[in-house]
Amino acid sequence: MQRLVSTPIYYVNDVPHLGHAYTTFIADMLKRYYTLRGHEVFFLTGTDEHGQKIALSAQKHGLSPLEYASQISAHFRSQWDFFDIGYDHFIRTTDSAHVLAVQRAFATMLEQGDIYKGTYRGSYCVSCESFVANHARCPDCQRETSILEEESYFFRLSQYQEPLLEFYAKNPRAILPTSRAPEVLRFIEQGLHDLSITRTSFEWGIKLPPTCKDPKHVIYVWLDALLNYVSALGYPHGEKMGYFNHAIHVVGKDILRFHAIYWPAFLMSLGLPLFKHLCVHGWWTIEGVKMSKSIGNVINAQEVAQNYGKDPLRYFLLREVPLGQDGDFSLEALLRRSNADLSNTLGNLLQRLSGMAWRYFEGRIESAQVLQHYAQDYATLSALFEPLEASMQEMQPHKYLEDLWKVFEGANALIARDEPWKMRDQAKIMALLGLVAALLAKATYYLYPVIPQSARKLADILGLKLEAEAFGRIQENPFLDAFVIAKTPPLFPRLELIQAPKPKTQTISLKDFQKLEIRVGQVVSVEKLEQSDKLLLLRVDFGDRVRVILSGIAKHYAPKTLEGQQVCALVNLEPRKMLGVLSEGMVLSAGDGEHLSLIAPLTPMKNGSAIS
Ligand code: ME8
Ligand code: MG
Repeated sequence: MQRLVSTPIYYVNDVPHLGHAYTTFIADMLKRYYTLRGHEVFFLTGTDEHGQKIALSAQKHGLSPLEYASQISAHFRSQWDFFDIGYDHFIRTTDSAHVLAVQRAFATMLEQGDIYKGTYRGSYCVSCESFVANHARCPDCQRETSILEEESYFFRLSQYQEPLLEFYAKNPRAILPTSRAPEVLRFIEQGLHDLSITRTSFEWGIKLPPTCKDPKHVIYVWLDALLNYVSALGYPHGEKMGYFNHAIHVVGKDILRFHAIYWPAFLMSLGLPLFKHLCVHGWWTIEGVKMSKSIGNVINAQEVAQNYGKDPLRYFLLREVPLGQDGDFSLEALLRRSNADLSNTLGNLLQRLSGMAWRYFEGRIESAQVLQHYAQDYATLSALFEPLEASMQEMQPHKYLEDLWKVFEGANALIARDEPWKMRDQAKIMALLGLVAALLAKATYYLYPVIPQSARKLADILGLKLEAEAFGRIQENPFLDAFVIAKTPPLFPRLELIQAPKPKTQTISLKDFQKLEIRVGQVVSVEKLEQSDKLLLLRVDFGDRVRVILSGIAKHYAPKTLEGQQVCALVNLEPRKMLGVLSEGMVLSAGDGEHLSLIAPLTPMKNGSAIS
């Protein structure tokens, strides 16, 4: 069967970070998974290069939008190449074939009667490139919106309310994991408004088809972007369009609405089949705050992989958190997970197999007699593979991996139970090693989508071909005539935290110190922020005025206990926007890595008193 697997096309206002890598790893996993099962998979990724947000970023860097987009797009591409991502096409929305396809689609929607001209009055969030009715702050990202009043073409989204509800009723697995579907249905049921799909106040976008004779409009960036999924296949008549009959779009929850509401409506209007699945994942956070460039807390996936390995990173991201939920990233958690599962459980099993194979049999394991000695154990352990397919169909790789690891745990337990090093019967030792080799051989094919590099090595060690045909054969009968097991260094060396060299204590001049404006203030009120389990929002009175300060102390102080207390704060720190809130200073605290205590004067002082 032909399938399309896609990632979102990433905005070029942002260099790639671990969040983008996660999405791309999921898509890469699906491609490898389906390819092994004999499907023909077209894996599409790329960059989203039009729109006001990109134009503004380019301007800030003193480049033309296209120059700027080309630079960042190249970054994304080289990052995916570094990670051996098996994409089949990398689309840029500035590609001329895409531009033509978008104009063609616009003309078709117009002929269809789904587009009309009017005026948009309302608010717009540039960061999300999203029309948000009359909200002063964006309901999605909390940033301030701008007011728009523009002549605009509209798409009759309101006409698609019923067809959309019908589609989701008939296709309950269109959104996976299914736990993410209710928010979409609720949104549709509240009523859909027609969607403004052109802009006139800037130029960096795709023009309307020339037949419209309306050159001041550019096409709304989300209509432009979503159409990449078909323009890359040669819409309208390209021979690759067949892949779209079975499309899986992997997306983060931040862009679920665009994919679950606008996209199927556009597809219906164009008379195209709808996607089979949206695979929707949650966010990686750092100490509870969403990783994003505008907050400045991004992790560079390539750097992590260079230090700790590509496969440990992929394994961690796919195993640690159920797909669909948010997860907190830390190197400590990555190392813990990799050492426990990869080095200990799987790595040890392989070392034991290859060690004993060489100690007793010069590496050659016959598996003909496995069932004579181990029929029951084989039945029990191979049954553990059964739920794996369903977990992947439901887009639950963490569950898939959890279950797969039960095979390795079971095999390790069997070795511990039977202590082959104490056995006398050579045939039984051979049977036990044959069983372990057969299980590892089967497992290699299940590991491949998640940790492809290591699975390749494992395949080499066991003498397997990672191809659909071999996969089918081994799932049926893993007892090859013989396994010739290669000697191997540990596949997953234990990882240790690489300590950044401690910066040498620097002396600074008195003049430098005097640049710091540290003052005493009194906490007026404290709020917990909903989007973060780390930050508290403090309002602090410094005599002359009350400042809002965000502080990462939620784990150490209950909000109420701080009200009325005096604290010390650096007040001439450059204001910083986090979670849409402008923080105007930094509250000082003492920390030993575990405990944290806010700093206060020993006796009450007048608010605003200077600290020197
Ligand atoms: O939205 N955790 O592009 P974008 C997990 N151009 N995933 C994250 C993440 C995080 N902290 N941060 C980003 C756009 N992502 C549009 C898409 S598609 C037709 C147009 C991932 O650069 C996640 O997949 O803002 C999210 O949906 C995507 O990056 C947003 O990328
Ligand atoms: Mg974004």
